[in-house]
Formats: sequence, structure tokens, C-alpha cells
Amino acid sequence: MERSFWNLIERRREGVSVAHIIGEWEFYGRVFKVREGILVPRPETELLVEKVLELLPEDRSLEGFEIGGGTGAISITLLLERPRLRMTVNDVNPEAIDLMRENAELHGVEDRIEILHGSLFEPVRKRVFDFIVSNPPYIPEGAWNSLPPEVKKEGKLSLIGGEKGYEFYEVIAKEAKRHLKEGGFVALEIGHDQGKVVKELLREGSFREVMIYKDYSGQDRVVLGWS
Ligand SMILES: C[S@@+](CC[C@H](N)C(=O)[O-])C[C@H]1O[C@@H](n2cnc3c(N)ncnc32)[C@H](O)[C@@H]1O
Repeated sequence: MERSFWNLIERRREGVSVAHIIGEWEFYGRVFKVREGILVPRPETELLVEKVLELLPEDRSLEGFEIGGGTGAISITLLLERPRLRMTVNDVNPEAIDLMRENAELHGVEDRIEILHGSLFEPVRKRVFDFIVSNPPYIPEGAWNSLPPEVKKEGKLSLIGGEKGYEFYEVIAKEAKRHLKEGGFVALEIGHDQGKVVKELLREGSFREVMIYKDYSGQDRVVLGWS
């Protein structure tokens, strides 16, 4: 017992986060399994979930698509809050796919979630959805070295969004419309200084009424636009 306690302290000293040491973390009031190499769901991301929920009536059967599910916290929370919703979610990291399956079972939503391995829109080529949601990797490549060790343990795949951090938004802004039904919307988490550029990217992609929402610390955090 004493030995395992010191082992935990040693792992913390090596830069492993508390979440990864205990193997679970809370998101939107529920516990999700977490694992090294996969992003630990952040409190800021709850704003993205809230904004999407505001647009999903409880009595309609809707279908959503999430890009880059990680633990599955976003999609699984939406499913638990909206019992008639179905979600399709992908990730390029096979370990995230396994973890999402475990979390979907843990929360009893495995019948309403389709978990696909693949990049961006590639696994849903000809399909359309009522909405698309994503918290994509958005840290610029050059910032990697200055990230704290426990954040680095979440992996480059979870965090780095290309040279300037906009790689995923550029693709989503160009391609999302093709995968949205008439009147659908796209909702994206962004870095605190990325609002202006992402808003412009969505406008260039012919999205309407593009809005930026701030998180509880007053930082730009979510961009939402209509097809
Ligand atoms: C910032 S994390 C978000 C994880 C989770 N949705 C959340 O909010 O906690 C981004 C996720 O996108 C995944 N990802 C990276 N490149 C991808 C790609 N080309 N296509 C789909 N997912 C990708 C990563 O593996 C990671 O799980």
C-alpha cells in the first residue's frame, strides 16, 4: 500500500497528470475513463456541449457527427442529454477508438453511437448530418516544446493543429457543408486567440450567422455557423 502510494507520487513527479494516474476524469458531471496519449476532457469543452445542446430539441430524432472524439466525452454527453439523438464519431488514433467504445459502454449509449477509425471526413464520405461538432487539435507546431510535461503526455496527435494551428479548421470550413443537411450547423472549439480567423474561415466556406462564444474566463472558445 505504502509502496504503491510512493509509486503514484513518483509518476506525478515524472509529469504524469492526476487524471492519467487515476485513469478517470469528470466531464459535465459524469466520469469518463482516460488514458495516456489521449486528451483529458477539459472544463472549457463543456461550453461547446452547452452550445450544441441549446440547438437540439429534446423531441427530435437528430443525427450528429463529431470529428476527433478522443475519450468520447462530447458525443457521449450529448447522447445522454438527448435520448433521441444518434452520433457518429471518428478518430485517427486507434487507442482513442478503443477508449470511446469503453466509455460508450460505461454510459450505456453503445446502441446510439457509431465509432469509426479514420481521418476527418474520410470515414463518412457520402453521408449528411444535422450538425457537426469538433474540438480539433489547435495548438501551433512551434508551441509544442513549451507545453507542460503532463500536457505533452496527451500526444501530438491530440494537440497539434499544423504549423499555425488552423489546419483542421481549414478543412472543416471547406468540407463540412457537403456533410450537412439543409439548415444544419457546425460547432467548433477554438484556442482563445483563434476566433477571428476561424470565423473568417467559416464565412469563406459560406456558413451564415457565424458567432463566437466566450468561456467562463472571458476567452473566445466556441465558433458556430449555419449551413
Ligand atoms: C483536442 S483532442 C479532442 C478530444 C475530445 N473530443 C475532447 O474534446 O476531449 C483532438 C482529437 O482529434 C483526434 N485527431 C487528430 N487528427 C485527426 C484527424 N485527422 N481526424 C480525426 N481525428 C483526429 C486526436 O486523436 C484527438 O483525439
